Amino acid sequence: MGIIFNEKERIFKLDTKDTSYIMGIEGDLGHLVHIYYGKKLKGDSNPSYIPSINFSHKIWFMDGCAMEYPAGGCGDFREHCIEIRTEDGYTALEPVYVSHDIYKGKPLLPGLPATFADESCCTTLEIVMRDALAGVEAVLLYSVFEDTDAITRSVKIRNIDSRDIMLTKALSACLDITNDDYDIITLNGAWGRERSIQRQKLGYGRSGVFSERGVSGHQNHPFIALVSDNATQKTGDVYAMNFVYSGNYEAQCERTSNDMVRMVMGINPYDFAWKLSGGQEFIAPEVVMVYSAEGLGKMTRTFHDLYRNHLIRGRYKDIKRPILINNWEATYFDFDTDKLLAIAKEAKKHGIEMLVVDDGWFGNRFDDNRALGDWVVNEEKIKGGLKYLVDEVNKLGMKFGMWFEPEMVCPDSDLYRAHPDWAFHVPNREGARARNQMVLDMTRKEVRDYIFDSMAKVLNSANVEYIKWDMNRALTDVASLSLPADRQGEIYHRYMLAVYELQERIVQEFPHILLENCSSGGGRYDPGMLYYSPQIWCSDNADAIDRLSIQEGTALIYPLSTMGAHVTDCPNHSVGRTTPFETRGIVALAGTFGYELDVTKIDEKEREQISEQTKMFHKYNDLVRNGDYYRLASYSLNHRYDCYMVVSKDKKEALVTYVQARTVAAMPDPVIKLDGLSEDISYYVDELERTIPGDVLMNMGLFVKYEHGDYKARLYHLTAR
Ligand code: GLA
Repeated sequence: MGIIFNEKERIFKLDTKDTSYIMGIEGDLGHLVHIYYGKKLKGDSNPSYIPSINFSHKIWFMDGCAMEYPAGGCGDFREHCIEIRTEDGYTALEPVYVSHDIYKGKPLLPGLPATFADESCCTTLEIVMRDALAGVEAVLLYSVFEDTDAITRSVKIRNIDSRDIMLTKALSACLDITNDDYDIITLNGAWGRERSIQRQKLGYGRSGVFSERGVSGHQNHPFIALVSDNATQKTGDVYAMNFVYSGNYEAQCERTSNDMVRMVMGINPYDFAWKLSGGQEFIAPEVVMVYSAEGLGKMTRTFHDLYRNHLIRGRYKDIKRPILINNWEATYFDFDTDKLLAIAKEAKKHGIEMLVVDDGWFGNRFDDNRALGDWVVNEEKIKGGLKYLVDEVNKLGMKFGMWFEPEMVCPDSDLYRAHPDWAFHVPNREGARARNQMVLDMTRKEVRDYIFDSMAKVLNSANVEYIKWDMNRALTDVASLSLPADRQGEIYHRYMLAVYELQERIVQEFPHILLENCSSGGGRYDPGMLYYSPQIWCSDNADAIDRLSIQEGTALIYPLSTMGAHVTDCPNHSVGRTTPFETRGIVALAGTFGYELDVTKIDEKEREQISEQTKMFHKYNDLVRNGDYYRLASYSLNHRYDCYMVVSKDKKEALVTYVQARTVAAMPDPVIKLDGLSEDISYYVDELERTIPGDVLMNMGLFVKYEHGDYKARLYHLTAR
C-alpha cells in the first residue's frame, strides 16, 4: 500500500518507488502541516521510522509553519491556495482536518484531463478539511503511483452552507519546505522559441510564471522546479510541479524572511470568481509533483513514464504515428486538389505515409482575413470534393488528415454574420482582432454543438484519419452574453472545460482519428492537451538549430513521442537560416517526424534523402518513443553542440544524437560521456564499426568526430553484443 495513516501520531506517509511524502494533523484545531518530501524513508513503511514532529517552531502566525493547503485571512501571509467571499463579504478562512479516506486506484476528475491508473498501481488519499464558520470544505486529493515517482494532487471545494459563496482563488497544490540554496527552473519563451530553460537563484520574495491569456501560452509554461544550486542532470534535489491544465495558471515559489520556501500551482486567480451555491462543488485541476534525488535527468524520465503510461490515451498511445507531410509551409493558402495530389504522389515514393491539408480548405478562406467558423469544404480549391481527394490519397496507399481551428470565428464569415453574439465581446467595445479573428463563446452549449456538428459532418464525409486542432490567438474581451454578471468570472475556466468537452466528444466519436493539438506552434503544449492528443505541434519554428533548445525544453518534461517535429524547407521560413537537409532530418527524428515542404519542388538530392530518413524513422522510432531520455550536452549552455540519447528499457539498444551547431577553432573533438547504459554490456556502435563496453562509453566517453562547418549532425546507434 502506498499510503498509510498512523493513528497515534496522526501522520500520513505516502510512498512511491523512491520517494516519501509525509504530513501530519497538528494540535487540537487540526491544521494539516507538511513534514517531509524527499528520498524514500526506507523500511516497510512502518511509521516508527518517521521522526517525531516538533511543532515548537510555530511562531505567532502561521508564517513559520509548513502547511498543506493554506488559506487566506487567518495569519498565513504567504501566497495561499484558497480565497472566498461569503454573502456577508467576509474572506477569512481556516480549514482544518475533519476526516480522511484511503483507497486503491485513482478517481477521474469529471470534465477535466487527469492522469489515470488502476488499483494495481495507484493509491489515493482524500482528506476533508473544513471551515465550519465559513461553510466551506476543501477535499484534498493525493494519488500515489507505485510504478512512477509521481504524486498527483487536486482539490474539491464544496459549499456546505445554504448561502452562496464566491470562490475567488482555488489553487491545486502547495509545497512548503526549508530553503537549501535552491535555484528555480522555469520554461519561458515566445512564439517560435517556446520553452527555453531558465535557471536562476531563488531570491527572497515571489518568483514564478503565469498565464492570463486563456491558454497556457508560448511565453511561460505551467511548470516550475526548485533544484539544489549544484544540481545537474545526474545529481542534486529536484522538486517539480507541472499543471494538467491548458488555460490561465500561476506557479510561484516564495522565499520568506525566515528562509522557508513555498511552491504553489493552480488556476490563476486573475478574473476568476466562481459562484458556489449551497451543496455545489468546484474541482481544481490536477498538479503532478515529482521529486528526484538524482538530478534533473531522473525528474525528466519520471514525467516521461508517467505521461506515456498514465496520461496519453487512445489508439495511438503506444504505436508509431504515420509519417506525415503537411502542406502549410509548402503552399500556404495557395493550393488545390491537383497540387495536393502532386505532393502526395511524390511524397509516397519516398516513404511518407499521410497527407495533411492545413489551413485554407474551407469556406472563403483564401487568406487569413476571413472564414474561420465556416467548416464547409471549398470546392473551388478542393476540386471534385473532399471525398474525391481523400479517396485518391488513399489509393496511393496514404492516409489523409486535415486542419481545423474550431474555437475561432472571423468577423468576415457566414457564422459570424448569423451569430455575432457567439463571439466573446463586451457590448459596444471594439475588441482585439488578433489575426482577424475572434474567440467563440464556447461556454454556450449551442456554440459547442455547432462546432461539433460541423466538424463531424466533414469528418464523416470522407476517410479522415488525423486532425490538427489549432488555436491561434489569446482570449481577450472575455464576456459572455449568456451568463449573468455574477458568473462572468467563471468564463476563463468554463472556456477550458468547454474545449476539453469538445475534444473528448471528438476522440470518443472518432476513436480512429489521430489528434494533434497546436496553438500557433507550441502555445498550448501542456499535459491537459496531452490527455486528448498524443502529440502536439512543438513550434512553428522548425529551424534545426533553434529547435535544439525548443526540443530540449519540451523534452525536459514531455516524452519525445509527443513532440511534433517536421523537416521543412530552407532558407527556414521563421529565421531564414539554411541548414543541411540531413541535419533537419536528424533533429526531427527526436519527435513525431514528418515533412512540411513542397516535395515536388525541392532539390533532387534532398528528395532522395527523404527515403533514407523515412527508413531511419522506422528503424529508430520504437526506441525513441519508448526509451529513457538522457540529456548529455546542451547547445543553449555550451554554444557549440547539442547531444542527447535514448536508451531502451532493457538497455540493449541506444541512439545518440549529436548536433554540431557552431564550429569553434582550436577545440578538441568533444568526448561525450554517455548515460543510462549497462556497465555489464558491450555495445556495437554502428558508426564507429566497433564494440565498446558500456562502462567505457559512460566513463571515458564517446569520441565524437568534430567536422569543419556549422550545423552538422550525426547519429550513433548502439546495440548490445
Ligand atoms: C498556426 C499553426 C501553423 C499553421 C497555421 C495555419 O500558425 O501553428 O502550423 O497551421 O496556423 O494558419
